Amino acid sequence: MDIRTLRHLASPEGKALLREAESGFGVETEFALGSRLRRDHAPELVAAALTQVRLRRRATAKFHPADAARMFLTVDGYEQATRATVASHRARRLADRRPGGRLLDLCCGIGGDLIELARAGLTVTGVEMDELTAEAARLNIAALDLTGRAGVLTGDAARHDRSGYDAVVCDPARRTARGRIFDPDAYQPPWSFVLELLDGDACVKVAPGIPHDRVPAGAEAEWVSDNGEVKEAAIWSGELASGCRRRATVLRGGAGPGSVTAGPGSGTAGSSAAAHMATLTDADDPGDPRVHAPGRFLYEPDGAVIRAGLVTAVAAMTDGWLLDSSIAYVSADTHLSTPFARAYEVTEVLPYDVKALRRYVRAHDIGSLTIKKRGVEVTPEELRRSLRPKGSRTATLVVTRAGRRTIVLVATPL
Ligand SMILES: C[S@@+](CC[C@H](N)C(=O)[O-])C[C@H]1O[C@@H](n2cnc3c(N)ncnc32)[C@H](O)[C@@H]1O
Repeated sequence: MDIRTLRHLASPEGKALLREAESGFGVETEFALGSRLRRDHAPELVAAALTQVRLRRRATAKFHPADAARMFLTVDGYEQATRATVASHRARRLADRRPGGRLLDLCCGIGGDLIELARAGLTVTGVEMDELTAEAARLNIAALDLTGRAGVLTGDAARHDRSGYDAVVCDPARRTARGRIFDPDAYQPPWSFVLELLDGDACVKVAPGIPHDRVPAGAEAEWVSDNGEVKEAAIWSGELASGCRRRATVLRGGAGPGSVTAGPGSGTAGSSAAAHMATLTDADDPGDPRVHAPGRFLYEPDGAVIRAGLVTAVAAMTDGWLLDSSIAYVSADTHLSTPFARAYEVTEVLPYDVKALRRYVRAHDIGSLTIKKRGVEVTPEELRRSLRPKGSRTATLVVTRAGRRTIVLVATPL
């Protein structure tokens, strides 16, 4: 889609066409719908409208459905946008530190972060280099009634004057036409620019795999998961950092993206009807874990906790230990319900012996088998095939290592 077509789509004619395309979508075949719409509208506009309807439907996975239905999306812009739950969490953190402040959102894309920053009561200027993407962000601000709170400039973030703002947010591009970029030096703008920003009061979004030694002294790295999936890491610097070095924040939404109400704080949790948030930091982490044989319960830490290197904080809160010093499972004799880990009751500990396991599966009438593994060279699909489960009951097997031994825990999710 070019910028002229995007603007046409946002015109009264384009909006009427989008409504028609939306109501016919899934009712008529796409071929019939397209042919009908092309009777009254230019073919390229109809093609753009049908793509937009498709994208808006897909976008309900990331944005509030009511927003997705009004937004203007590009494929690249949508794929790179921050999901609403995560953007809302970041925006609230910023609004807590800089209530009503003026913020600069560098590399604002189609406005995933920008929208939530404006909604959190901040006044935001977005800077985006790509003209089409910047135009989509402007249209989104208008479509979501945020004009007056947010604006977007087309330009190079690295050249934008940062004076006069209370804080800077930056979400560098981490993919090219060839795929994702894992090396921070290849981000756009590059890491050298990120370091310049982190010299002041900034929050920079980075990939979850960011090596810990890339986090500058005095800054805080926060790993965020949403409904159990790690979504991003963000580095907070200057007065925006909270004093810790590593933080894991766990968001759990309801049926779809929703706003998160709790502010950050060590080991704290908050909730609203839409989502829950809990956060854990290195202040909760005694480090130096005990390593011991399996106890009655097993905890599988959330991905954000693992990325933040806080598995030992989960061991401390559950009064537990590790089965192996290098594997992210916690074992304990006490059961605690925690947002930072999934808990299982361990009913058996077996040696890793396929024949013996097959006998176990047959003897226990197991037909549906969930196999989890960590720290061992086992392919769950192959193991499941070898165990030939044919019974009527379900079971979870956790294959892992305890020192040099490979063991299998039969575990029931709690
Ligand atoms: C990861 S996306 C931002 C997504 C955004 N936070 C959101 O939630 O929608 C990165 C964006 O940075 C833009 N970009 C890359 N280099 C830039 C630069 N030097 N100046 C401004 N924008 C840039 C890309 O065009 C892309 O839209």
